[in-house]
Amino acid sequence: MIIAIDGPAAAGKGTLARRLAAHFNLPFLDTGLLYRATGRRVLDEGGNPADPATAEAAARALAALDTQRHDLRGPEADLAASQVASIPGVRAALLDFQRGFARSHGAVLDGRDIGTVIFPDADVKLYVTASPEARGLRRWRELRARAVVADLDVVTAEIRTRDAADEARSAAPLIAAADAITIDTTELDADAVFALALQQIGEKIAEKPGRVTHVATPSAGLT
Ligand code: CDP
Repeated sequence: MIIAIDGPAAAGKGTLARRLAAHFNLPFLDTGLLYRATGRRVLDEGGNPADPATAEAAARALAALDTQRHDLRGPEADLAASQVASIPGVRAALLDFQRGFARSHGAVLDGRDIGTVIFPDADVKLYVTASPEARGLRRWRELRARAVVADLDVVTAEIRTRDAADEARSAAPLIAAADAITIDTTELDADAVFALALQQIGEKIAEKPGRVTHVATPSAGLT
């Protein structure tokens, strides 16, 4: 089974994706880390993340260890990730890895173009979103939990700017797939989002008999 989760920044994709992966016993891939690690490689070399040749070379040289670095979050890494992500050569360089990741056991993947470009035939596509204010507050709280001092208005503005860039780019823009189920998490906590997603997945899978053997119910997921 392949579950594609897309949506704007700090919408709760990662939290949901991890829980779904554990529940269905599927591997999980945070594809944002690939773009973050690519951007970080370029910055390390003193390069410009917006330069196509430099960014594509960094994407092609990416190693697994790059995605485990501890400096992949924060304003500089956010911006570099968004810049490299708009370059078609970078996206092409990372495509095979993402598809290969799910090849043998299926997977839950979260990102911006999983349901539209990477796995257009995914069994389930979720588009997870929330108001910019709610997302700004969540990201600000995450930063605070890591003892990073940040201004809420600045964090929210950065999220709006990055979303606008992700939506406006021509290469794999952020957009809900036509057959995606949208989940608005503005008013929901992580447990409620998980329960709703399990319910939606159960209904979706019931429409496709024969493709997936294990169908979860919301109550099964919460006990
Ligand atoms: O954690 P957050 O939602 O803020 O971002 P992320 O998922 O780690 O993604 C960081 C940036 O990478 C995004 O703003 C996109 O520009 C880019 N990205 C992308 O273009 N395609 C993906 N599949 C994943 C991330």
